[in-house]
Amino acid sequence: MEPTRSASLSKIAQSYERDGFVFPFRALTHGEAGAVRAEMEALERVVAESSEQVRTLYGAYPNMVVPWVDEIAHNPTIIDAVKAVLGPNVLLWNCSLFIKEPRTPDYVGWHQDLHYWGLSGSSEVTAWVAITPATVGNGCMRFVAGSHLKQVSHVDTDDQTNMLSRNQELAVEVDEADATEVVLEAGTFSLHHGNLFHASHPNRSDDRRIGLALRYITPDMSQSDAPKDYATLVAGDDPSGRFELLPRPRGVFHADDLAKAQEVYEAQYGIFFQDVENVA
Ligand code: NI
Repeated sequence: MEPTRSASLSKIAQSYERDGFVFPFRALTHGEAGAVRAEMEALERVVAESSEQVRTLYGAYPNMVVPWVDEIAHNPTIIDAVKAVLGPNVLLWNCSLFIKEPRTPDYVGWHQDLHYWGLSGSSEVTAWVAITPATVGNGCMRFVAGSHLKQVSHVDTDDQTNMLSRNQELAVEVDEADATEVVLEAGTFSLHHGNLFHASHPNRSDDRRIGLALRYITPDMSQSDAPKDYATLVAGDDPSGRFELLPRPRGVFHADDLAKAQEVYEAQYGIFFQDVENVA
């Protein structure tokens, strides 16, 4: 299937309901994706020489402190696809850059995202945007079609090359032959359900594999493991009032944005984000 802006929204919803995922869709041109990578890598050099607070908050909440990350989270093509599966009211709950460096052993074990996030309900979808191409050789995601219909148990392991925070994996066997390889061109994205079994291989290539994972929810989700939670409204309204709505960033590492991100960090980390996948 060729990436397209014109895929009908009802077809997106049908595939997603049946398989728990749907891809690919194009959000950025090749040129735009290349520009994002260049901007990100320039920012990495700044971050490396910045305070520990900036390094921490860039890793935890890039969308809150860097406008171009926030812009991708509001990309109209992504939002239209997300609305096709979640409906008109959409919050961005969390966002992470996933980077696998060239020729590194780190992989992601089979898991379900919603198992560890303390969120009630299952109206969550991740849009995973390929900033570089994602290929079988550089460790693209792998999905098991139809596995999103129920939650299963997970176990912690002692495998340090598993990039998940507790090196966790599903407590059930996954037949590797059932996996769909989520090959994405730079600038395209996939959608996957929060209960979908997914994993990824190591990056065996000579270039970095860079993706941006955007986690969207409906306002009727709620946080069970913490007294308060935060999100950014990206479409429609939030009639529930269960989430404190976050402002959009004013500039790269603007002092007011860093202060807000620090507040969110202190409220969230150590409570339910202790189990969120590591940001490489
Ligand atoms: Ni995941």
